[in-house]
Amino acid sequence: MLILKKTAIMKGAGDSHSFNYFPTLLVSITFLSVTFFGFVLYNEHTTILSKHQEIIQANKESDQDIKRCDIFSGEWVLDNLTHPLYKENECEFLTDWVRCLRNGRQDSLYQNWRWQPRDCFLPKFDGKLLLDKLRGKKLMFVGDSLHYNQWQSMVCMVQSVVPPGKKSVSYPSTYIYRFRAEDYNASIEFYWAPFLVESSADPPNMRDGKRDAMIMPESISKGGDIWKEADYLIFNTYIWWIKSPTMKVLRGSFDEGATEFDEIDVYTIYDRTLRTWAKSLDWNNPEGIKCAKETTPILNMSMPANVGTDHKLFEIAANVTQSMKRPVHFLNITTLSEYRKDAHTSIYGSSAKHNSDSPDAKIDPDCVHWCLPGLPDTWNELIYTQIIFSY
Ligand SMILES: *[C@@H]1O[C@H](CO)[C@@H](O)[C@H](O)[C@H]1NC(C)=O
Ligand SMILES: *[C@@H]1O[C@H](CO)[C@@H](O)[C@H](O)[C@H]1NC(C)=O
Ligand SMILES: *[C@@H]1O[C@H](CO)[C@@H](O)[C@H](O)[C@H]1NC(C)=O
Ligand SMILES: *[C@@H]1O[C@H](CO)[C@@H](O)[C@H](O)[C@H]1NC(C)=O
Ligand SMILES: *[C@@H]1O[C@H](CO)[C@@H](O)[C@H](O)[C@H]1NC(C)=O
Repeated sequence: MLILKKTAIMKGAGDSHSFNYFPTLLVSITFLSVTFFGFVLYNEHTTILSKHQEIIQANKESDQDIKRCDIFSGEWVLDNLTHPLYKENECEFLTDWVRCLRNGRQDSLYQNWRWQPRDCFLPKFDGKLLLDKLRGKKLMFVGDSLHYNQWQSMVCMVQSVVPPGKKSVSYPSTYIYRFRAEDYNASIEFYWAPFLVESSADPPNMRDGKRDAMIMPESISKGGDIWKEADYLIFNTYIWWIKSPTMKVLRGSFDEGATEFDEIDVYTIYDRTLRTWAKSLDWNNPEGIKCAKETTPILNMSMPANVGTDHKLFEIAANVTQSMKRPVHFLNITTLSEYRKDAHTSIYGSSAKHNSDSPDAKIDPDCVHWCLPGLPDTWNELIYTQIIFSY
């Protein structure tokens, strides 16, 4: 996942009323297991919330503590006092395919886990505070269905602080899902652009996943201009981590009706795609270098050994984002998500499939998407932390 955040930067000392808005990039790479499936957490990575921890949590973290803290290293703790952050049946904006309880799932413990960074506590999620930050602004998730999943989570996390009649979800185009909180003049949107660059999977009715997409790595998604209107942009590149060793690259353009393609190795195409993406976001950023100081990057590329083959995709993303004028942050949610094999929609993504008589029941679990409330709420808590503390 990649996040673009606009930050207020002072133009110069003594010029305190003159602000320029420079976006800051926060990049998070998600690599989520698609091959595993189960209901139980790895025990070695979990502990039960102790009295001691509750007491520590009561002491408010200072900004500095949080900023110094690696919020992505930690463990899952069972905490049914604070989680879930909302109830499945209390968020009208959830779609059926993430309502696992309604679809027949019997256990609900997957909703009770809280992410506990090793060296600090995450701030308590406060929807009002977030909407205040988003007043007159637009936060946009750009990406694939996993991001649609996360958008729903974010909407549910904030919607309860907005009174009925003052909130709505609309569909300005087939590519855009928009949540509006009227009194805040704030929008939280999802934009469908699964490969970020133009692809044959761009029209939302092509998202069946049955065909291998063809892409144009040098042409940013047609949404590229719309993204620039957003104040906070969150990208993901999940789809690249699960794909086969090669990608189909169109010879020519979709507009000209081209259909011929070349098969090129995924690393080369990922690199070309991210460069296209980076170029499109480095638009008109004359003083971009100034904000480098403002946003200490979390972009520490000392690689962990256990990322294995995907190490290289991470490195490509790091290389590309480091060359950008806009400072880039990675939201490293990969590892913490990998622990959560219990939290996928699996066979509870629709009410039809959980029937154990159905031949689908065991054969076709969805191990890509996540039940809500659930894991994407944690991703959003981490984004919230970044936004509130303005990393
Ligand atoms: C991501 O975070 C995990 C801990 O959650 C850590 O082990 C890993 O090294 C981090 N990866 C990167 C590239 O920072
Ligand atoms: C939370 O868990 C404890 C211990 O298992 C249980 O006694 C309590 O009823 C649970 N509370 C809620 C709100 O589920
Ligand atoms: C509402 O927010 C948009 C940006 O999302 C801004 O362009 C517009 O001026 C705002 N309207 C009001 C009435 O503040
Ligand atoms: C990057 O992380 C490594 C290992 O965690 C650490 O030793 C190093 O100081 C970090 N580098 C920066 C620039 O923070
Ligand atoms: C990343 O950049 C470094 C330094 O320019 C280079 O040595 C390395 O091969 C690059 N890695 C990838 C995967 O492109």
